[in-house]
Amino acid sequence: MKILVTGGAGFIGSNFVYYMLDKHPNYDIVCLDALTYAGNLKTLDGALKNPKFKFVKGDIADRELVFDLFEKEEFDIVVNFAAESHVDRSIEDPGIFLKTNILGTQTLMDASRKYNVKRYHQVSTDEVYGDLPLDRPDLFFTEETPIHTSSPYSASKASADLLVQAYHRTFGLPITISRCSNNYGPYHFPEKLIPLMIANALNNKKLPVYGEGLNVRDWLYVEDHCKAIDMIIHDGKVGEVYNIGGHNEKTNIYIVRKILELLGKSEDLITYVTDRKGHDLRYAIDPTKIKNDLGWEPDTMFDDGIVKTVNWYLENKSWWEEIISGEYQDYYEKMYSNR
Ligand code: NAD
Ligand code: DAU
Repeated sequence: MKILVTGGAGFIGSNFVYYMLDKHPNYDIVCLDALTYAGNLKTLDGALKNPKFKFVKGDIADRELVFDLFEKEEFDIVVNFAAESHVDRSIEDPGIFLKTNILGTQTLMDASRKYNVKRYHQVSTDEVYGDLPLDRPDLFFTEETPIHTSSPYSASKASADLLVQAYHRTFGLPITISRCSNNYGPYHFPEKLIPLMIANALNNKKLPVYGEGLNVRDWLYVEDHCKAIDMIIHDGKVGEVYNIGGHNEKTNIYIVRKILELLGKSEDLITYVTDRKGHDLRYAIDPTKIKNDLGWEPDTMFDDGIVKTVNWYLENKSWWEEIISGEYQDYYEKMYSNR
């Protein structure tokens, strides 16, 4: 079995590479990644020592490169993680989100058709469903919830999902789609809530909480997401969408306080800043379908996962310190200085 993992130098893709090399030692894994600001080859140091793993630098929207790679490697399965993934960046500059997330997906699917890939799996997000009200804890996203997006990021991911479903219906491409809730864990880029708050707290910098910190996210430990995708590509039904989430809803301020508590830092570091434009209120996944059809459930509960995550950032300071000492500083200044 040969699997193409796109975006494997990013947060979830790299965790998936390690998960698959460990779980299926006889599989060949090829990672295609453009190494944008979010991609980091150092993250794949361990995988690069494994003869069953190969890294290729390239853009998923580069047709020539993608078609050449598919012709040469004859992939059985494609798992597309590659994306521009940060909502705040999509509000600043939507263009690259459309190119990578929509046209990149189209390019990969065109190549998958031409070279008869047995399964094309699209890694999507719960953000395609928009948001839920804060005062209706009885409501959850199911696979039937209408697509209703808020940010350029979520609109680009939803566009890609529709295109993936169109390629299945029109061309018979054997696809599956997964829509997961917020992930956390090792190798999470420090522009996102949890790693940003850990890094700032460790550096005794202010922790910028948007609005009143009452927005709710449904957090899942990254390895549980990887396990779900592994199950879907092997046992999922072609043409289907699977929601992934572990019923773990928390307000942002709860998360920030928890991180401060684990690090023994003062809550005086919290600063409330101007809210994100169009800020989604609440995400909450109903994972009944993947539980019933594939027997998936999460292994890591939040109280353990957040301790593991904080410890990982403590033990791997060089990984994130190198990131935040580079061009990230310009990003941080632009995003947070006038908030
Ligand atoms: P990330 O930003 O950490 O990593 C994205 C990776 O894609 C990087 O390695 C980057 O270099 C690569 N990439 C970007 N543009 C590319 C291009 N044009 N060609 C090739 N590679 C390119 O993202 P992540 O958080 O790991 O998310 C991975 C996927 O999972 C995305 O599709 C995202 O929409 C989805 N997702 C993320 C979450 C989450 O909580 N982070 C939850 C659900 C779904
Ligand atoms: O739900 C899945 C999605 O989760 C993925 O599709 C996205 O790729 C991923 O980035 C994530 O999107 P969010 O916007 O939910 O994640 P983020 O970490 O950016 O923000 C989480 C919450 O924390 C959100 O309500 C905004 C808030 N926040 C974020 C940052 C960066 C703050 O209060 N302060 C901050 O500085």
